[in-house]
Amino acid sequence: GLATLSLAIDGRALGEGDYVIAGDRLTIENSPDDFTLETLVEIHPETNTALDGLYKSGGNFCSQCEAEGFRRITWFLDRPDALATYRTTITAEKARYPVLLSNGNLVDSTDLPGGLHRAVWHDPWPKPAYLFALVAGDLGVHEDTYTTGSGREVACKIYVERGNEDRCAWAMAALKNAMRWDEEVFGLEYDLDIYMIVAVSDFNMGAMENKGLNVFNDKFVLASPDTATDGDYQFIESVIAHEYFHNWTGNRVTCRDWFQLSLKEGLTVFRDQQFTADMRSAAVKRIGDVRMLRARQFPEDAGPLAHPIRPDSYIEINNFYTATIYEKGAEVVRMIHTLLGPEGFRAGLDLYVERHDGQAATCEDFIAAMEAATAVDLNRFRRWYIQAGTPKLKAAGRYDEAAGTYELTLSQSCPPTPGQEVKEPFHIPVAVGLIDGAGGDMPLRLVGEDPADAPSTRLLELIEPVQTFRFAGIAERPTPSILRGFSAPVIVEQALSEEERLQLMAHDSDPFNRWQAAQDIALDLLLRMVRAVQRGNEPPADPAFVAALGRTLADETLDPAFAAEMLALPGEDVIAERMDVVDVDAVHAARKALARAVAEGLREPLMEAWRRYRENSADPTDTAAAGRRALKNRALAYLMETGDAEIGDLCLRQYEEAETMTDSIAALGQLAHGDSPHRRRALADFRQKWAGDKLVLDKWFAVQASSPRADTLARVRELMRDSAFTLQNPNKVRALIGAFVSTNPLRFHASDGSGYEFLADRVLELDAINPQVAARLLTPMGRWRRHDAGRQEKMKAQLQCILDHEGLSKDSFEIARKSLG
Ligand code: TRP
Ligand code: ZN
Repeated sequence: GLATLSLAIDGRALGEGDYVIAGDRLTIENSPDDFTLETLVEIHPETNTALDGLYKSGGNFCSQCEAEGFRRITWFLDRPDALATYRTTITAEKARYPVLLSNGNLVDSTDLPGGLHRAVWHDPWPKPAYLFALVAGDLGVHEDTYTTGSGREVACKIYVERGNEDRCAWAMAALKNAMRWDEEVFGLEYDLDIYMIVAVSDFNMGAMENKGLNVFNDKFVLASPDTATDGDYQFIESVIAHEYFHNWTGNRVTCRDWFQLSLKEGLTVFRDQQFTADMRSAAVKRIGDVRMLRARQFPEDAGPLAHPIRPDSYIEINNFYTATIYEKGAEVVRMIHTLLGPEGFRAGLDLYVERHDGQAATCEDFIAAMEAATAVDLNRFRRWYIQAGTPKLKAAGRYDEAAGTYELTLSQSCPPTPGQEVKEPFHIPVAVGLIDGAGGDMPLRLVGEDPADAPSTRLLELIEPVQTFRFAGIAERPTPSILRGFSAPVIVEQALSEEERLQLMAHDSDPFNRWQAAQDIALDLLLRMVRAVQRGNEPPADPAFVAALGRTLADETLDPAFAAEMLALPGEDVIAERMDVVDVDAVHAARKALARAVAEGLREPLMEAWRRYRENSADPTDTAAAGRRALKNRALAYLMETGDAEIGDLCLRQYEEAETMTDSIAALGQLAHGDSPHRRRALADFRQKWAGDKLVLDKWFAVQASSPRADTLARVRELMRDSAFTLQNPNKVRALIGAFVSTNPLRFHASDGSGYEFLADRVLELDAINPQVAARLLTPMGRWRRHDAGRQEKMKAQLQCILDHEGLSKDSFEIARKSLG
């Protein structure tokens, strides 16, 4: 996309024969060893729909250079190990582009003749080109200051489209909390006098950590109680923190090459997870993160796109911003944190930063620093970086009453993944507890150890294929609580009776495993119900499980946010993941039947919970109030399963009287997903009420695209013609098409193949506009092997059709090619 106007070496213009331009390469013949290269190019940001490089969003110029966008701006050594300091001069029409921004500090700002003006920015910190940023536009600003631990004042500025200035307070609060937290927990202080965030509506991902000048998808900045849900508030807090934390883990210490992407992403996700855990309920955060890991990363690891967190090949690096690099990468860092302990990890991170500040480092540098600071041996642990696939962890216990010992045998295996047939054993930290009949933790000491300090949770390190651990002084048959806090990203296989699971669900001192026990009971039950549906029988609901949920609901000592998680049934995707051949119809029917059984069995207490939390603070920054809302809306969702007209009326009332977007969209979703008589009116009301708010309309699109109703695909096609919809805006694509493809298995996997055909058509349309977004949309098709023969054929045919398309981007080519296998 570069029109090269002139090239000069040490002030001498190059002629035709002095250089060769071929594809994306500029080769200068006979260049001296040391020289200054000047390049002058013409580019067209206004036609850059790929949103990569310099482009326009809502009339403003902005840039996105990670991973390889800088080369779309000018000729450069566009690789992350080429660090340089930047001085950026921007000249523009002052009336249309009053705000001119780039990285670092503003060193000059001058009015020029002819209505132009000029700004000069200088960033003193050496950085790779992917961290460069430029913004020019007419923007409003929300300003504040932050004083660092060492007493320096930092100007904090959030730039938004005019009119949105009053929706920045939460993002600003989150930024300042993140700055404080990184000082307190990791001793890392901000290093410039100014920190800027620019919110844009057209953005390929969540946000970007450009040095001193983050660019954000505006959905992760703008918030007010009436337009953003509690979930949005939490996402904003964590994305703001994530990009801020990159200042040290990513920017000051960067990546040598893109194979090391998880060095900055896994580490930074781990850091933002710890931050959120400190700001809110750590248990609820952990449950949410593991839910996400299982929904997005486990399937990736089990499919044709599986790759290690440090991949060893790629066609298009943009395809590697995956759940594996980010979320599994964070789990790997978390395991190091678990093995070293918080102090050891801190010492390791200190050493890593000390050794590699100002450098482009590798994953190996990170592990080596962790080892050097603590003398912990991570040799076998390194396999987590090299081997793909989700390990299976088997746990089997044997109680010896006479000896008072409990023998726990742990074994591991890992299925093959593309290019890796055989796996070596991993180093797996397994946090374990044993629970007595009264529900209390037993003190845990291994045979031969001093009884003095026996902890209630014991960290076992599995490094062999099979290992047995023997606990002494066990006075009664215990119930084992394995993998507390989800101490490793593995699949646990363990034969527990329902009675043992109910015991864990009621009493485990580890909140994660309490939740896990509830999920396991529900999942076994749901799988039995799926089989019944497939045989044409009435699916058997389990009164013991319903009663246990009733006790959870009645337990007033529980944090409502946690109770809401305990009451959530495993999603259709989670159930499907456990089947040899997915049957989306039976899965949907079984889950619906269980939800109805719960609703009918607990109708009164659910109603009571809904009423109890009806009156609530409308302030989304009050996390306790948000937790109560979560429980209330979980209750509402169950109650709607009864199909009672009276409850439908309550739901409409919640929609009409809602003071928060959380309550409004929860009620709207319930109405939209069934055939309530209020459905049409509520949807039309919402569309009209929020006609001027693009971010809120995304919720309206998504709610309809995820509906299990039979007419959903037809409705999605119709919504593509809505005046608020456009394929050019990634948020719109994700809200409508993305939601249909990845949150609506029932309709996406319609047996006639209509969902697949719809997706393939959209991918091809989009591929010409924005290859990054097109390729990402395509990834669910890679899981065709999980379905029946009829669906497999239809999915493969669509993948082939994409592959055969002339002019296909390499982004989509890589996904389609690998998906077909
Ligand atoms: N580094 C960004 C982050 O972790 C990710 C990112 C933002 C990105 N925009 C991108 C990656 C565009 C690839 C392409 O938050
Ligand atoms: Zn990141």
